[in-house]
Amino acid sequence: MLEVVTIDGPSGSGKSTVSKALAKRLNYSYLDTGAMYRAFALEVLTKGLENHKEKYINLLKDFYIEFSYNSEHTQRVICNGRDVTDHIRTPEVSMWASTISKEKEVREKMGYLQRKMGEKGKFVAEGRDMGTVVFKDAFVKFYLFASPEVRAMRRYKELLDKKIQVTYEEVLEDVKKRDEQDSNRELAPLKPAEDAILIDSSELTVDEVVDKMYSIVMEKKRLWKYI
Ligand code: DC
Repeated sequence: MLEVVTIDGPSGSGKSTVSKALAKRLNYSYLDTGAMYRAFALEVLTKGLENHKEKYINLLKDFYIEFSYNSEHTQRVICNGRDVTDHIRTPEVSMWASTISKEKEVREKMGYLQRKMGEKGKFVAEGRDMGTVVFKDAFVKFYLFASPEVRAMRRYKELLDKKIQVTYEEVLEDVKKRDEQDSNRELAPLKPAEDAILIDSSELTVDEVVDKMYSIVMEKKRLWKYI
């Protein structure tokens, strides 16, 4: 078993905020796998290859991603040597990340990079298939979800904060469309692992979710010593 905590769930469930806070509290590293799909989607869009599957699959050969952290522990995403942090959260990149993530070659490459980054253990990995595919032997698995309306409102506020012009209705439509794409794809569809602990964040604050997860992880760690 790996000393890894996986947090899977749909977009806007609060995964990122919760995963970062939990990792900090546990003194673990944090692996944002959505950022990897987003960075690759940006690469495809920048090169104008969205309608050329064969060509963009070819880009995977040289695709490399690193995460760096500044003094405030803020994550920077470095893709093929370029800092793409401020460009990967737009609605266009979100939708493309969801689209390209259906492709087998893309998933294989990301899975490979994720396992390599996670070799040392002691980290929180967030995504869609962390508990079901990439880190099947993680010692604690969570599935965090919330209603589409609650998630859309959260995303809408985030985008407004970033001065990205959208309406709530557009965001809700995007959320539903991405849920549909992510849950119904053939490979690694979004679903809870059989042994995942389900948490509905609709009515909970970030601190409440993190407290809940933290006590579960500490309890598992305590029991684990005796296995
Ligand atoms: O978590 P996010 O919204 O940043 O993820 C962006 C997209 O990447 C998401 O719509 C589906 C894809 N993704 C995936 O297929 N598997 C993961 N482990 C993480 C993200």
